Amino acid sequence: MTTRINPSILAADFANLERELGRISTADLVHVDIMDNHFVPNLTFGLPMVQRLAQVSPIPLDVHLMIEDPDRWGPGYAEAGAHSVTFHAEAAGEPVALARRLRQIGARAGIALKPGTDATPYLDLLPEFDQVLVMTVEPGFGGQSFIPETMSKLARIADAVQDAGLDVWLQVDGGITAETIGIAAEAGANTFVAGSAVYNGDDPAQRIAELRDAAAAHPHSHR
Ligand code: DX5
Ligand code: ZN
Repeated sequence: MTTRINPSILAADFANLERELGRISTADLVHVDIMDNHFVPNLTFGLPMVQRLAQVSPIPLDVHLMIEDPDRWGPGYAEAGAHSVTFHAEAAGEPVALARRLRQIGARAGIALKPGTDATPYLDLLPEFDQVLVMTVEPGFGGQSFIPETMSKLARIADAVQDAGLDVWLQVDGGITAETIGIAAEAGANTFVAGSAVYNGDDPAQRIAELRDAAAAHPHSHR
């Protein structure tokens, strides 16, 4: 299994972002949390930041849109050079049309589900997406605790992906640490976002390596 570790720069030093990107160059993608103070009660970066980060980052950008009306704003992030653009199912008006637009621009298309959102309506739509993000905390803030009840949903999506013979990356985001990453890996995740677990400490590269090892030690077994 390919394990991808995507550090979230939400936990980085905002006054030194180019340096902070350089410290995670051994990771797979850098996770960029876009929050609009409406979909979630917090405000982070917008499009000009993403355009600039894409220019200086040593690794591709994994953009997580926690915003209202991603149908309107999402394509701009793909045009800015994001490798993947993930929008929330709860916010999208026409998720399939938006995913097709993102792919047409050249980005991978991702759909995110909050902890309380049922996956059922989206299982038939899996071929339209390159990534499904199962939120393992309520979106809005870093440093929260992993919600284990989200794992049954993740396992269901993993089974559906396998049954359909698809190559859809399964991402988890929120409270991922060297302790919890194995639980998510066993349930079927292969792409792991970690903010505080990577940046809280003085050696992000070491933390990335530890997370990678911990995920690999807990392979997914279907059903
Ligand atoms: C939360 C964000 C996460 C956040 C994770 O809404 O989507 O990406 O950065 O932070 P940790 O890993 O600290 O839970
Ligand atoms: Zn995120």
